[in-house]
Amino acid sequence: ATTGSDGITKRDGWSSRSAFILAAIGSAVGLGNMWRFPAEAGANGGGAFVLFYILCVVLIGLPVLLSETLIGRHGQSAAPESVRRMAQESGKSRHWDVLASVGVFSAFLILSFYCVVGGWVLYYVGAFVQDLFTTGLTGGAFQGRPAEEVEALLPGLFGNGTLMVGLHVAFLAVTFYFVARGVSGGIEWVATWLMPAFFVLFVAITIYGAFTGAFAEALSYLFTFEPSKLTGSVMLAAVGQAFFSLSLGVAGMMTYGAYVGRDVNLGSTSGIIAGADTLVALLAGLCIFPIVFAAGLEPNAGPGLMFQSLPRAFQDMPVGSLVGMLFFIMVFFAALTSSVSLMEAPTAWVKDKFGIARPIAAAIVSFGALVLGALAALSFNDLSEFQPLTGFALFEGQGMFDILDTLTSKILMPVGAILTSVFVGWIASKRLVDSENGLSGGLHVFWLFLVRWLCPIALALILLVGIFPEVF
Ligand code: PHE
Repeated sequence: ATTGSDGITKRDGWSSRSAFILAAIGSAVGLGNMWRFPAEAGANGGGAFVLFYILCVVLIGLPVLLSETLIGRHGQSAAPESVRRMAQESGKSRHWDVLASVGVFSAFLILSFYCVVGGWVLYYVGAFVQDLFTTGLTGGAFQGRPAEEVEALLPGLFGNGTLMVGLHVAFLAVTFYFVARGVSGGIEWVATWLMPAFFVLFVAITIYGAFTGAFAEALSYLFTFEPSKLTGSVMLAAVGQAFFSLSLGVAGMMTYGAYVGRDVNLGSTSGIIAGADTLVALLAGLCIFPIVFAAGLEPNAGPGLMFQSLPRAFQDMPVGSLVGMLFFIMVFFAALTSSVSLMEAPTAWVKDKFGIARPIAAAIVSFGALVLGALAALSFNDLSEFQPLTGFALFEGQGMFDILDTLTSKILMPVGAILTSVFVGWIASKRLVDSENGLSGGLHVFWLFLVRWLCPIALALILLVGIFPEVF
């Protein structure tokens, strides 16, 4: 392995264009799609949220995604250093690197609660493995147990603080292992082989659900646009979900962009990444809501949606234990490729900042996430009364888990994205930006318009109406 003057180990480059695309899709596709998207869609009333979310992906997410990857590839370093370089080469202040620092910090915060949810996934893998061994291959999962009991698995876990923290630490440890080894090692393999397999399984489950569940009802719930439902808070939730799902505003895509070769067209690549990510989120909606409606459950069941409705469907499915086990194993890998990218950004930062080895940097980041994540895990049980930010409307009644989620997706990620679009649209030299973005003709003009005008202005407005609904 050769180390360049910038501290990036050349060995760490993605081995090809498709490897980069798959790794970026791996970062984007994760719990955000399978768990958070349905929960947010349900909590925000369905159609209006979903359609506004799609609009945000196309008009805001996509241009920002391209902006982030182009900064990363140009700078070839950890995110703040990449921004600094681009700023200096454009004759501007190096302090623009604050946009990447905000991102690195939010990546760290997300990592801490993301691994908590990763722990829930591990719990379900365990539950299905155990079920497979006790009830065997034939028939559905959890035979002879009433649906309510299967649904109660999650509250049961939530009630056990020690177990939740233990699972969080386990998920974090696996993430640490991969990050400590370096980016392309294990992750490329997971992204290349397991993610496509996951996609196929997911499509199969959705098709099965389309025939057995309340598919028409789910379709109309998810895609009927009622303008009156599009409030400021729904819009902010949709923008936040778009950023969360595309891994934006946290310097993650900048960090990954640094590993991309010069021959890759970043414009079209960004389109592929955003398209795949959105497809999986919509699939998750189409997979989960037919079950929810068929079972007469409430669509706004929040964070439990994926963990409670799908196991119910696996109960009635032929070879349900096996399908359920495979499903949660795949979700585990999808979550892992995301958590690795979350840990990568702060690790690269600590490593460069203090000039220490990658494994040590990753250990420091992991330790911080361990402590913060433990607080988040305990907010479901032992520390549920600890609501330090109650009094601020946005954080009313929220424990640590919800605070971390709200703070990152509804404040820090949009702010990071505003800074990124202003930087690429107005501050960086046009020559540099043009040489990196791989766009031409009308598309180029349109992208520049989105980055310069629409992204910063729309995001600032949505932040305002979302955070201060009473003023509007
Ligand atoms: N996009 C990931 C998901 O949807 C989460 C993530 C956010 C990963 C930010 C990296 C950076 O699960």
